[in-house]
Amino acid sequence: MSEPIAFSTALRERSTGAHSGSESAGFMADLIKGDGTREDYIALVAQHWFIYEALEAATERMKADPVASVFISDRLTRLPALEADLEFLLGADWRTQIQPLPTTQRYVERIRAVGATWAGGFVAHHYTRYLGDLSGGLFIGRLMARRFGFETNGIGFYLFDAIADPKAFKDVYREQLDAAPWDDAEKERVIAEVLQAYRFNTELFEDLARAKAGILVA
Ligand code: HEM
Repeated sequence: MSEPIAFSTALRERSTGAHSGSESAGFMADLIKGDGTREDYIALVAQHWFIYEALEAATERMKADPVASVFISDRLTRLPALEADLEFLLGADWRTQIQPLPTTQRYVERIRAVGATWAGGFVAHHYTRYLGDLSGGLFIGRLMARRFGFETNGIGFYLFDAIADPKAFKDVYREQLDAAPWDDAEKERVIAEVLQAYRFNTELFEDLARAKAGILVA
């Protein structure tokens, strides 16, 4: 009998297509190619602030959950870095200058809903953001630093000072995914929620492109 495929492997394989969709969304692809502006980059940082405010508030609640708490680590926390980045990029009154785009509002509502009631759904959102930040995110941070002349101010979000070895961290995270006490039906629901999380990210890039073109206001 062949070995059953590990859940973390199934999750990765079944989300590869959705990952490509997010990665190649025009707004993101332009930033990576060097066609995006400093304002585009700031607009993305601002949307991240709303997303991580919701994700990290849900994280606080989920610390009491026996399944979700295994995935939680203060070494991942991004909100203070995002706030320092926004202060550097927009000034002390940054909070009055930013608004959530429509997709961000829906994304945040979903994180709040699952973060209040469903450990597997919370883990799906936690996985999609933080494992992405520890993968492509590190590369994006270095690119933005080079393109816009940032040293650490402005790209603090992409610098995980407390994680010296992202690969080792991700390997442990995948082991924790494999050890989660989920039956097959729950695993399917978690995968579906990860695919939804990717859709939010792709649609956010589409919103950002429309906002840039002046055809969408927050
Ligand atoms: C231009 C944008 C992006 C690039 C260049 C990129 C690149 C990568 C690369 C190279 C990996 C593999 C790392 C490894 O093997 O350990 C990866 C993994 C990942 N990325 Fe992205 N990515 C991008 C955008 C995104 C977005 C928007 C999301 C969702 C928010 C995302 C979520 C993930 C996740 C969750 C993983 C881990 C998959 C797993 O191993 O289970 N990425 N990314």
